[in-house]
Amino acid sequence: MAPLTQNGQAPTGRRGPTAPPPILEASGLVKHFGGKRMLLKRSPLVRAVNGISMSVKEGETLAVVGESGCGKSTLGRLLIRLLEPSAGDVIYRGRNLGNLTPDELRRLRGELQIIFQDPFASLNPRMSVSDIVSEPIWLKGGSSRGERRDKVVEILRTVGLRPDMASRYPHEFSGGQRQRIGVARALASDPRLILGDEPVSALDVSIQAQIVNLLEELKERLKLTLIIVAHDLAVIRHMSDRVAVMYLGEVVELATTDTLYDAPLHPYTQALFAAIPQASAVARHSIKPLDGDVPSPTNPPSGCKFHTRCPHAKPLCNEARPQLEAVEGGRRVACHFWREIAAAGSDPRPIARPSARLEKRLALYTACQAGRAELLSHRSSTPTAKDQTC
Ligand SMILES: Nc1ncnc2c1ncn2[C@@H]1O[C@H](COP(=O)(O)OP(=O)(O)O)[C@@H](O)[C@H]1O
Ligand code: SF4
Ligand SMILES: [Mg+2]
Repeated sequence: MAPLTQNGQAPTGRRGPTAPPPILEASGLVKHFGGKRMLLKRSPLVRAVNGISMSVKEGETLAVVGESGCGKSTLGRLLIRLLEPSAGDVIYRGRNLGNLTPDELRRLRGELQIIFQDPFASLNPRMSVSDIVSEPIWLKGGSSRGERRDKVVEILRTVGLRPDMASRYPHEFSGGQRQRIGVARALASDPRLILGDEPVSALDVSIQAQIVNLLEELKERLKLTLIIVAHDLAVIRHMSDRVAVMYLGEVVELATTDTLYDAPLHPYTQALFAAIPQASAVARHSIKPLDGDVPSPTNPPSGCKFHTRCPHAKPLCNEARPQLEAVEGGRRVACHFWREIAAAGSDPRPIARPSARLEKRLALYTACQAGRAELLSHRSSTPTAKDQTC
């Protein structure tokens, strides 16, 4: 299989003459925290992201998954330049974000937005909804006070909030409504790409469905590209087109959602899904859930970082870091022995159907989605009570 080129793409020609260019391309991204001398000691060096090369396609929803501390949030923030990389480049619509002047970056900032996990902590309690949503419009410049007021009203309607809520403060809203305010703030600067960092994990399950469906609807309507950092496999399966699986600062597998859920190739992906058996309708009986904790990113294992927990590890795994190889169908996997592992485990057998809880949630998302589509087709500009529940 052909390895990736320097910029994380398949070799020239594989993409085909008609495929659109990616909206964002990362190459060799590295982010280390700490390692600085403080008085007599040096603070530990945290290797949060280690040489990631990948691209994000325009209009897709790309999910980033992995255990806590694997570097998902750091990668997301590097991709939208909320964090400066220790090394590597991010090319956004043909422009290297590292080469922009602070002024150019400020002007571009509106196109690359973020929705945070905790809607309460991320909203300034002293600012009214109107101020929160109009601030990014003001920062963008070129609009009068009246134009900003009109735009705030339009955006609040878009996210399912009433215009008269604009004068209220964050503490006057429920968790789901606060996350809608967070979405409204992200939309205010007319973004093209939004990073959702665990955008629903702080919410009740029934509210999660509302926000998941709101994001999907906005993505379609506003032609957005989404990067969703999440650990909830139901949310990921429902929302994403492709999934990047991270382990200790590296992407170990990248594939379309269906392919990944049906036949994960990397032992870490297999174990991650086996830990939650209902995530996939098919699993291999030999796969065991993950044992132990993720090693510390201050002292990561040599070679393949997963070798200390991998049931298939061999001496080579300890010595050499596997490259993220391009496999058929556009998927990529970083494992020296994925072919052997796939061949040995080629007897997938059905396991328990998705759990009742997971099925209920997927059904809820789908029902909400269908309900919204119907509502939108003959919708007035003001959201209805039914709108608010889905
Ligand atoms: N600002 C920071 N300073 C020091 N270490 C950090 C900082 N941000 C993240 N880290 C460390 O980097 C690693 C990856 O963190 P993070 O990207 O938040 O992981 P995830 O989102 O997958 O849980 C963790 O060990 C975390 O403690
Ligand atoms: S390279 Fe070796 S240790 Fe790493 S996932 Fe593959 S078999 Fe396991
Ligand atoms: Mg995180």
